[in-house]
Amino acid sequence: MTLSLDRIQTSATPQGDNAVLRLWGGSSLKGHVKISGAKNAALVVMAGVLLCPQDCRLRNVPALVDVERMAQILTALGVKLDRQGNILDLNAEHIGHSQAPYELVSQLRASFFAIGPLLARLGSARVPLPGGCAIGARPVELHVRGLQAMGADVRIEGGVVHAEVPGRNSRLKGAKIHLDYPSVGATETLMMAATLADGETYIENAAQEPEVVDLANFCRSMGARIQGAGTKTIVISGVPSLHGTDYSIIPDRIEAGTFMVAGAITHSELTLSPVVPDHLSAAIAKLREIGSQTIVEAPDCLRIVPGQNRAADIETLPYPGFPTDMQAQFMALLTVSEGSSTISETVFENRLRHVAELQRMGADIRVKGNIAIVRGVPKLSGAPVLATDLRASAALVLAGLAADGMTTIKDLKHLDRGYENLTAKMQQLGAKMERVTQDVEVSENATPEESTLK
Ligand code: UD1
Repeated sequence: MTLSLDRIQTSATPQGDNAVLRLWGGSSLKGHVKISGAKNAALVVMAGVLLCPQDCRLRNVPALVDVERMAQILTALGVKLDRQGNILDLNAEHIGHSQAPYELVSQLRASFFAIGPLLARLGSARVPLPGGCAIGARPVELHVRGLQAMGADVRIEGGVVHAEVPGRNSRLKGAKIHLDYPSVGATETLMMAATLADGETYIENAAQEPEVVDLANFCRSMGARIQGAGTKTIVISGVPSLHGTDYSIIPDRIEAGTFMVAGAITHSELTLSPVVPDHLSAAIAKLREIGSQTIVEAPDCLRIVPGQNRAADIETLPYPGFPTDMQAQFMALLTVSEGSSTISETVFENRLRHVAELQRMGADIRVKGNIAIVRGVPKLSGAPVLATDLRASAALVLAGLAADGMTTIKDLKHLDRGYENLTAKMQQLGAKMERVTQDVEVSENATPEESTLK
């Protein structure tokens, strides 16, 4: 069975383009949330399948629009895919030198991950420059410079990156690469490329994110020789070929963190599993500082015990620092926490676009450059708002849960990129929220009783 975009969107009907999310704040939540597989790990591991000519089975793959786009890109490159629920079977035996279509690549930055495995396995690759979230320039020069250090000729023509390994055996060579910045994507591209290279590759100042470790574990399960993933130096000893595998993706730490904030902002006790508590250390520590406790109930289960929310300062940093992908959600929490908080976004420029929308809900936030100063207010009030990027969308959902009255969130395509069944999961906890098409939207003052939630 081949995947189609429609199938994933129907799981979250009505579809992202013309749907709105309506929610009524003020209810407390209760119960347990099942955390899905990690989007960012699934996307890069799917690209990693290009390294291997045999059958690969991936488990715990979330049903998301981004995953579907990556599946379509892999199909365009010649990969056979079959999905049954959260299990994805892939076979990249017959990949060719075709180029992924720009329309797909432009919608998914992670599609650029294909360049490393394609170059390593085929000796050449053509990948359009990527698009992705609207959160800054997001260049790829660190990926390109690393591939050049491994012997690739790389040129950019007409928006397409052409990479080729010169010489008779078309094999990349091991190299010592020092990244100027611990870029997650560049670390992953270079690690994949090095698995099939001739000799040893050192990636220094590597990203230490759990998704990098997951990719390394996946590659190792195919026979790759990788050491040090999760530290600042990763050493990869190239092998001639890799074999098939059966691999399960780690739980999504950002989805888990989002539900932890949902507990804190609605003063609700929630449990979450499966999670890897270590992956959430920065979020757990910051929540404790703000006022909520996180109890490890079992090795893969957390309980959030809410308290009085107070101001705290946040600076986003590469892992193990506070994740930029949690910045918007914590900002939502701090808008209703007592006192004045400072949030510095150091990883991406232009990642404070949710500020204007939170202000529409009554938040007191001032922005200076990449710093937001948030003064807690006693209550937010529901308003029509626009989701500007993936994590901003999640922040607006959280703010809406804590606001008086109805919040309507437009442009759900971002939310569908990264949260599996968010509406259903929230409803199960008792949140009053529903997804409706814009044309059935009733008045801006509709009550839950007037909606389909009756
Ligand atoms: C990944 C995640 C994203 C997360 C980010 C940081 C995926 C699919 N996405 O994105 O959710 O927010 O890590 O944790 O895994 N940079 C350069 N040159 C480069 C590469 C990056 O200057 O060649 C800069 C970027 O512009 C950005 C910073 O480095 O300012 C971090 O980017 P990076 O770590 O590469 O993030 P992504 O891999 O794009």
